[in-house]
Amino acid sequence: MTENFISISEAIKLGKGKVAVRGWIHRERGSNELKFIVLRDSTDTIQCVLKKEKFKNQWEDIDKLQIEASVEIIGEIKEDKRAPTGYEISAEKINIIGLSDSFPINKNLNEELLGDRRHLWLRSKKMTAILKIRSTVTGALHEFFRSKGFYEFQSPIIIPGGAEEGPTMFEINYFGKKMYLAQTWQLYAEAAMYSLEKIYCVAPSFRAEKSKTSRHLTEYWHTEMEVAWADLDELMNYAEEMTKYVVKNVLEKNTKELEILERDIKKLQPSIKKKFPRITYDEVLKILKDKKKMNIPWGKDLRTIEEEELMEFYDTPVFVTNYPKEIMAFYKPRDKKNPKVARCFDMLGPEKNGELIGGSERDTNLDELKKSLEAKGEKLEDYSYYFDIHNYGAIPHGGYGLGTERLIRWICGLDTIKDAIGFPRTMTRMKP
Ligand code: 4AD
Ligand code: MG
Repeated sequence: MTENFISISEAIKLGKGKVAVRGWIHRERGSNELKFIVLRDSTDTIQCVLKKEKFKNQWEDIDKLQIEASVEIIGEIKEDKRAPTGYEISAEKINIIGLSDSFPINKNLNEELLGDRRHLWLRSKKMTAILKIRSTVTGALHEFFRSKGFYEFQSPIIIPGGAEEGPTMFEINYFGKKMYLAQTWQLYAEAAMYSLEKIYCVAPSFRAEKSKTSRHLTEYWHTEMEVAWADLDELMNYAEEMTKYVVKNVLEKNTKELEILERDIKKLQPSIKKKFPRITYDEVLKILKDKKKMNIPWGKDLRTIEEEELMEFYDTPVFVTNYPKEIMAFYKPRDKKNPKVARCFDMLGPEKNGELIGGSERDTNLDELKKSLEAKGEKLEDYSYYFDIHNYGAIPHGGYGLGTERLIRWICGLDTIKDAIGFPRTMTRMKP
């Protein structure tokens, strides 16, 4: 007879009667007469107790069961305040499905060893909670853009060169020719924007930056959008509404997971209620000078330390706008009112999470674009298709890119961005 299996959380919801559950052994302990198994599935854990007298023929096998063996258990569930999740199954039947011998994950492993054993570490409570939140985040991002009338558009990952910062691209051998992995969908997206007007994408981007920080991956999921006719304020409105939508979704759907991660949700709540401040680069320099005695010469990009010092004054993300034109990517246009600065923004995250989003209006002035590219030592012929886009009915437009793992890291309150993704890729971590 095949059993009608239900998930552990469904079994707990029933709270009484006969249930059939299946999963993996999260913890076990036993004596001569009893075996306690804490069983886990993707939904929850539950304590199961097996009495030797009921399992005379199977006892030798049951006694040998180890952590992460998979089993099916059928029995009576009832409330039991002493059990870890408040309920206990008194087992009547057990089917041993897959054995496990000396599961190599324990409390004493350092980050490096857990990284080597990532394929097994994913089963931990911590990683399971993060992966669930990650799924809420990416789901909410798709929902947000679709609810606003955006089309999903995908760009190539293998590109012939010509993106924002040449030196930080990974080269690949493409049938003997040099090609690169994309850092952004943007330049292709601008072409598609002339067809679809409002587009977005959640896809991998690649950065060969030699940065060993808690916020850099070499492969990350980039949530990007591009909108026809939009100006800087509209772009920031989208970024703010999107962020609020995602945080709100996680707070609603992942209470349990945030609890497992011991995330202080009071640190997230202001971001769904309060408006995110919008300040200019010049104002940032002034704040840092007046309140932190930090003197940053005008024209220098903000470093991590400066972003972090600034963010001590805020409990929500903050938009910093109008950075110096010369240090910005070539496509960020000059501000007509103040030609030294560009029409761009970074959205910085609170609690030392740094830049979450980078965005800007787009320059459609071909002379300016060419001048900026030449100043950065780029080859103009790599960009010929990009110039051609703007030869036919150019319009004002703009967009932004969110580091999805940076957002997840902030929401979950993680020490490192590496835990915001299943199998991280960094300068020093490429296995498993
Ligand atoms: O600021 P970036 O470089 O902007 C762009 O690529 C634009 N083309 C986006 C656009 O307008 N469509 O990257 C955007 C975001 C950053 O704000 C950051 O959150 C994230 O991507 N990011 C990284 N995340 C993880 N690891 C890295 N190495 C990252 N580099 C950038
Ligand atoms: Mg940036």
